[in-house]
Amino acid sequence: KKDTILLGIETSCDETAVAIVKNGREILANVVASQIDSHKRFGGVVPEIASRHHVEQITYVLEEALQQSNTVWEAIDGIAVTEGPGLVGALLVGVNAAKALAFAKQKPLIGVHHIAGHIYANRLEKEFEFPLLALIVSGGHTELVLMKSHGAYELIGETRDDAAGEAYDKVARMLQLPYPGGPQIDRLAELGEEAIDFPRAWLEQNSYDFSFSGLKSSVINTIHNAKQRGKELRKEDIAASFQASVIDVLTTKTVRAAKEFDVKQVIIAGGVAANRGLRSALEAEFAKTSIPLLIPPLNLCTDNAAMIAAAGTIAFEQGRRSGLELNARPSLLL
Ligand code: KG4
Ligand code: ZN
Repeated sequence: KKDTILLGIETSCDETAVAIVKNGREILANVVASQIDSHKRFGGVVPEIASRHHVEQITYVLEEALQQSNTVWEAIDGIAVTEGPGLVGALLVGVNAAKALAFAKQKPLIGVHHIAGHIYANRLEKEFEFPLLALIVSGGHTELVLMKSHGAYELIGETRDDAAGEAYDKVARMLQLPYPGGPQIDRLAELGEEAIDFPRAWLEQNSYDFSFSGLKSSVINTIHNAKQRGKELRKEDIAASFQASVIDVLTTKTVRAAKEFDVKQVIIAGGVAANRGLRSALEAEFAKTSIPLLIPPLNLCTDNAAMIAAAGTIAFEQGRRSGLELNARPSLLL
């Protein structure tokens, strides 16, 4: 059987990324240009700045990916691009680059869901076994997805308010830590103690949904009340206590779902999957079960295009194609 080589493009948020992947499993090139430094001084991603950076970067990132992989256009079987969800102006840059290339080079075009990409980042490490449970935790998403076969996604739980990464970034901002706050809190949490008993949002019994806005409010109130009493809480302890609450809920629900659906594999994905506390808590809990847990390396947890090419390969092999009318879809559902 002939190899399938796909070029992937990802521009949904603040990383301009192009990758080339063989058979959905082997990375030939994975180039990511991060814009974090440009957004830092605003304390978050500024959509208009993101779009402009993507426009400036995309052709260089593409050239570099082609060079790094030593790939000629004749060898590329198709172009996969994130069509959504994400920032509309940012998505449009990737979608239009992909359409222009597909038209000019006469290649099939495949629109990919960003979260499908995060899930398939794991397949770059290990072959999937179904049924599979995916915990997706990023700046925009907190979801538990059950997969019974390739490309089939069943949403069994999701956040009702803030995403986990969003909660990390907001709490970090209260602690006056630079953007993005997740890695900062992760680092501080290791130095702190679980001194404050923050609430855990379990929601209804049996629910696999999440909620982080109550926890966020509780952190604000705790900091505020301490200040009024002239007491300064240690940032390290706030970080450790906040992180403990997030990890407790994420880990408990993931283990419960994995057992209920009797899955053969559990994978984690998204930027918050880089969290050291979450990784070790999940490892410890799943070690007590017979269910294998897959944790992708850090560079595949955060946004990249290899994951888009990997997810695109499955769609490509299943015969899914997008037309040149493909558009950015900021609220695309999985
Ligand atoms: O997947 P991602 O790169 O972009 C989205 O699709 O959202 O995730 C970014 C999110 C940010 O909220 C960031 O603070 C969080 O992932 N993040 C972390 C860590 N590294 C990144 N959160 C907690 N601990 C980390 N080590
Ligand atoms: Zn992402």
